[in-house]
Amino acid sequence: MPAGYVAQIVEKNVFGCATELVLDLPRGFEAHPGQFLHVRCGGDGRILRRPFSLTVSQRGELALLVRPAGEGSRWLCARRVGEELDFLGPLGRGFSILDAGEHVLVAGGAGIAPLRFLALDMRKRKLRPSLCWGMENEEDYGTLPEILAGECDLSLATRDGSAGFEGTALDLLFSQARTESAAIYACGPRDMLSGMARWLGEAGRERAQVSVEERMACGVGACRGCAVPVTDAGATYAAACREGPVFFARELDWERM
Ligand SMILES: Cc1cc2nc3c(=O)[nH]c(=O)nc-3n(C[C@H](O)[C@H](O)[C@H](O)COP(=O)(O)OP(=O)(O)OC[C@H]3O[C@@H](n4cnc5c(N)ncnc54)[C@H](O)[C@@H]3O)c2cc1C
Ligand code: FES
Repeated sequence: MPAGYVAQIVEKNVFGCATELVLDLPRGFEAHPGQFLHVRCGGDGRILRRPFSLTVSQRGELALLVRPAGEGSRWLCARRVGEELDFLGPLGRGFSILDAGEHVLVAGGAGIAPLRFLALDMRKRKLRPSLCWGMENEEDYGTLPEILAGECDLSLATRDGSAGFEGTALDLLFSQARTESAAIYACGPRDMLSGMARWLGEAGRERAQVSVEERMACGVGACRGCAVPVTDAGATYAAACREGPVFFARELDWERM
């Protein structure tokens, strides 16, 4: 059974449409980029915890970056410094840094959270990742891009063209020249990930990893509520919470996703 914790929020920053909550985690708490916390999001009938990827703050502390989608995430965004969060974690399988000449990170919306953590991990290994990040419009970003620009080679996309490339993070990726051997690490909406898998084709899926944002209930592999179809002949589905959320693109059956 994964460990349960209560941690205090020690810093809160708002970046456009997303809220960063820096947590005072217990000594010895360690996590890999791509792993997530399963967070209790208040009472009011929200019995199920909500999954949020671990990210890092500007000072490299573990944090959450929450974009409001519904009641649970809105409750989380309204928390204040000094309040406590109850969560399970770290959960799931994170990203593996591949041996490649080029490392390309592709984030759609709040998918930036685990990829910022991954970018920091890469920099510690003296790698210089490039990051394509897409949002709806310029306001959604806030000042986070200014900070990220100092951490990696950043390019932005917006659907309405108000900042950076006009289009999605995926359109931006397609528009850039990349070496065939580039390793790709992606997190975002399902459409983005399946579009990327189609673009990569069979050969490219070996070098691409995706973090899938499935709806989750237990978060620990017990309820099968987050099952995703896999290509492994011996197992039709995998639990995204335990065997993922990060998968190699070749491991998922994109036709059945
Ligand atoms: C492994 C993982 C990591 C995630 N990391 C982050 C993160 O770092 N930052 C962040 O802001 N969000 C993240 N999400 C998405 C986040 O968990 C959902 O937005 C949240 O659970 C919605 O709960 P709610 O109570 O606010 O909304 P609900 O009332 O439950 O739902 C509101 C709307 O959000 C949609 N929704 C619910 N769950 C998901 C989901 N898992 N993915 C996509 N849409 C969903 C619903 O279909 C509905 O339209 C992550 C999801 C997963 C599975
Ligand atoms: S959420 Fe229950 S098995 Fe994944």
